[in-house]
Amino acid sequence: MLSPATIKQILRPLISPGHYDFWARELGSVAAWERCFARVVSRSDESQDSFTLHLRPNSNRPAYQSGQHINLSAVVQGRRISRSYSLTSLPGERDLSITLRREPMGQMSNWLYDNAMPGAIVEIGSAFGDMTFAKAGVTTDDNLLFLAAGSGITPLYGLIRAALAGGHRGTIKLLYWDKTCDHFCFGNELRELEQHPQFSVQRIATRSGLENQNTNSGRISEAQIQVLAAELLPSSPHIFACGGADFVAKARKVADGLGQSRLYAESFTANNPVTDDSAETFYQIELARSRTSLEVSSKTNLLDALEAAGIGVESGCRMGICNTCSCPTRQGSTLDTSTGLLNNGHSTRLCISQARSNLILDL
Ligand SMILES: Cc1cc2nc3c(=O)[nH]c(=O)nc-3n(C[C@H](O)[C@H](O)[C@H](O)COP(=O)(O)OP(=O)(O)OC[C@H]3O[C@@H](n4cnc5c(N)ncnc54)[C@H](O)[C@@H]3O)c2cc1C
Ligand code: FES
Repeated sequence: MLSPATIKQILRPLISPGHYDFWARELGSVAAWERCFARVVSRSDESQDSFTLHLRPNSNRPAYQSGQHINLSAVVQGRRISRSYSLTSLPGERDLSITLRREPMGQMSNWLYDNAMPGAIVEIGSAFGDMTFAKAGVTTDDNLLFLAAGSGITPLYGLIRAALAGGHRGTIKLLYWDKTCDHFCFGNELRELEQHPQFSVQRIATRSGLENQNTNSGRISEAQIQVLAAELLPSSPHIFACGGADFVAKARKVADGLGQSRLYAESFTANNPVTDDSAETFYQIELARSRTSLEVSSKTNLLDALEAAGIGVESGCRMGICNTCSCPTRQGSTLDTSTGLLNNGHSTRLCISQARSNLILDL
């Protein structure tokens, strides 16, 4: 049988990669020249509002490390949209797994819940994210403390699986917050992982009564994280935290208070944008490649403004971490709302940038 590389070599003079990928997709195949399509091979309900998808990618599968995320794209109501999801599979496994929470009114999570049945095809992008053991410099004897809130469990579950599968020798503790007992994910899997003597989980239901073997409940507060983390804290741990922006901010303060500088955190929601107090101004944006122009408010993120004008732009995390929406900028300056700094450079992350002058973008 010919290898994908040989087939590509034979076809290259006859068809462009873009056309090949388009027609492969149209004909319901996951084969593609350079894009990564994946077929849903199975799915399961994970909790009251979460479900897991197992995806079998074509030969362009992304290389990844545990703790990283991918962007998943699909055409929803006639419009291509992308969202980021953390990988819970191990890098050596054949299929990729993701676990999603259905957001009320959320476009992608509900579309996938209704449509991602076995056989359905989705597109995925390259892996990204810095919350990995390699970046953190973790070694097998280190003690690890994981702080997860809601769907923030997903990358941490991937990291815990990887640590235990790799024969980690240090203590591993997971503190896991969610609304009620029915919202916790990976019940059976975490119980199985707890067979490893160095691993334990403590769940905290933020809205309801106590969980069976659990003595904690109540809303997440800095004080609560502090007490629980201090109770569980193995000596000199690396701390990994993931959840909404508020949760991550609280975890960061607690870690600072504990004198722990080794905190690695990622948030699934954007921090409150840093804006300046300038009055609203309207600027002209020229899209050089498509020869279009539009007027945008200085108070609107460029990605939102372009989408509202019906201009499709590749995006993913929508919070400045995946770089998918980075756009070459020929002229003009923007405000980076993640830092509050002006950007006069050659590249603009459209999802976290607002115009501060007329702009020429390479779109
Ligand atoms: C790095 C990263 C990793 C992630 N990993 C995971 C993961 O592993 N699992 C996971 O479940 N999520 C994950 N997320 C979040 C995920 O990317 C999506 O943001 C999430 O699935 C919601 O997308 P959506 O399209 O369903 O919602 P969207 O349509 O984007 O809506 C977002 C929010 O706006 C509200 N909303 C939308 N439309 C309306 C409306 N008309 N009126 C009122 N409110 C409205 C929704 O209720 C929702 O809360 C991750 C995010 C990042 C950045
Ligand atoms: S969409 Fe991820 S950086 Fe903008």
